[in-house]
Amino acid sequence: MAYELKQFIAECREILGRDPGHAGREQVRANLERLLNNKDFVEEYCSDDAERGLRVLYEDPELKFQVLAHINDKARVSPPHDHGESWAIYGQAKLWTDMIEWKREDDGSNPDFAKLAADKKYRLNPGQAGIYQDGAIHSIDYPDKSRFVRVTGTNLDNIARMSVDLKTGAIRRMTPQQAS
Ligand SMILES: [Fe+2]
Repeated sequence: MAYELKQFIAECREILGRDPGHAGREQVRANLERLLNNKDFVEEYCSDDAERGLRVLYEDPELKFQVLAHINDKARVSPPHDHGESWAIYGQAKLWTDMIEWKREDDGSNPDFAKLAADKKYRLNPGQAGIYQDGAIHSIDYPDKSRFVRVTGTNLDNIARMSVDLKTGAIRRMTPQQAS
């Protein structure tokens, strides 16, 4: 039987309730790949006709994790950013996302500046999911009409995060009100 959104959510609840740490999140990542290999799920939530924008498919009232469908219209290259105290799993539904994982080369003592070096570069193709643990810095680059599903540990709009200007190294702090 096909792996449905409902079952994915039920298993997220069970897994993250038992183990909210790295190992539990890795199980959620593997399950997200399973969900994205269900063509009916992808067609229902991420088709070419799907309404553009960000759709919250689920928010857990207790554990606070979210499942989000990103129905992109236009291509975008993001700056390197973290997910604050939270984490994020990106699962590709349609087309692709080029990922870069960055590492800091400075000692982190300057709150306004970061020196970054690319650590890993790879492409997420449909059915593949990548995990970005708390504190990890990554950037994304996707074409027009790319679609992906994200699972985040909490609503990222509610927490402080940071992004880094690659040209200058300047750190931009996103307060809960500004975060997106
Ligand atoms: Fe991200």
